[in-house]
Amino acid sequence: MKLSVIGCGYLGAVHAAAMASIGHEVVGIDVDPDKLEALSRGEAPFFEPDLQRLLADGVASGRLRFTHDLEEARGAKFHFVAVGTPQRKDGSAADLTYVNAAIDGLLSILSDGDIVVGKSTTPVGTAQELTPRVESVGGTLVWNPEFLREGWAVKDTIEPDRIVVGVPSRADGEPTAAGHLAVASLREVYAPAVSTGTPFIVTDLATAELVKVAANAFLATKISFINAMSEIAEVTGADVTTLADAIGHDTRIGRRFLGAGIGFGGGCLPKDIRAFAARAEELGRGEAVGFLREVDEINMRRRDRAVAIVEEALGGSVFEKQITVLGAAFKPHSDDVRDSPALDVATRLHGLGAKVKVTDPAAIENARRVSPQLTYVADRDEALEGADLVLLVTEWDEYRREMHPLQVADLVSASIIVDGRNCLDAREWRDAGFVYYGMGRP
Ligand code: UDX
Repeated sequence: MKLSVIGCGYLGAVHAAAMASIGHEVVGIDVDPDKLEALSRGEAPFFEPDLQRLLADGVASGRLRFTHDLEEARGAKFHFVAVGTPQRKDGSAADLTYVNAAIDGLLSILSDGDIVVGKSTTPVGTAQELTPRVESVGGTLVWNPEFLREGWAVKDTIEPDRIVVGVPSRADGEPTAAGHLAVASLREVYAPAVSTGTPFIVTDLATAELVKVAANAFLATKISFINAMSEIAEVTGADVTTLADAIGHDTRIGRRFLGAGIGFGGGCLPKDIRAFAARAEELGRGEAVGFLREVDEINMRRRDRAVAIVEEALGGSVFEKQITVLGAAFKPHSDDVRDSPALDVATRLHGLGAKVKVTDPAAIENARRVSPQLTYVADRDEALEGADLVLLVTEWDEYRREMHPLQVADLVSASIIVDGRNCLDAREWRDAGFVYYGMGRP
């Protein structure tokens, strides 16, 4: 099938490459010439396992191309809107400028019967508002949220754990005739996943939009819940990791996303919970998700706590101390530093007068752009040399599995390690002579 993808950022580039890999003919549209040039060469503009291979194969096969010219989307039956919805500069709501621009652009090239598939994360109600514009030129607008995780984006796109499609519906909630047609066509687009029995949930537009933000709100809440338990553990001498293991055995709770530490960041969870709270306020139901502000605050307090632990470990002040920060990305398997707790903590320590050296297997270039005042060292061992304290803030395997306490002890000036992700074996480090600090652990 012929598809266009409007917006080739994280979501769009992966979607375009994944759709080409399952046999569709795809044109990706973007306004950024550097990004387009890289993508057209079959190169991933960001770190994402497997994406490079998919792009290269897709471009070589002739089924995948990228351009700035929206005219080239003409003739595609499906137009996926995958542009960003960043946090507005003047508040916490989502900025819909790019979504509106994408829809406006599409209006000039849509043919009767075309299907516009929204994938961007939008405040609930947006799709309904956009619908008359798309229908005025004979198109159908559906909403098909994306749940991909960075680091797993290709797998999550090709083998999603569910497909959710919101379609135009009648007052009784049943899809309209155009809605039914769109569902049948989308089943064909996603045929490989559909054929393996992936749950395919058809609903109205508002529910589809809400599914996305509700999922992210739940995940953020789960992380902040365990981080709140950390705060209690810290004043009682309890161990939050054992607590998480124990409650996680209850299958109703589950252990995943109960990783206590310096909290969540990235391009989605923080902005999505803020936008959700803002939207609920607009709808007059702010109190329904008032807890999300608490979730955000718990999350930000963890960064303060990490700084406080480092200060305490260094006798009260970090001034002029040599601190090696392991990690800058907001999570491992990513070079993304958007709202990264790791980089935030490193920057704060620098602001307090510490001599901070940051290392990361993938994110140094991006981190340098955001926080140029920090010193970056590509080689882990070189970064560790002479450290008064080592602070682990992104749980890359390079630190979690491949870093041995005795070897580190030979490199550093003082054997103090702060494990901001509770991912190291405390006993092993203590046995090697380190003073070990976790988050919410004795
Ligand atoms: C998230 C959602 O998981 C995904 O479904 C959605 O489409 C986009 O947002 P992503 O931003 O890639 O994906 O990251 P995720 O793996 O969810 O991690 C988010 C943050 O939470 C990271 O900073 C991570 O370090 C942190 N986290 C995660 C914890 O602090 N503890 C945990 O137990 C899990």
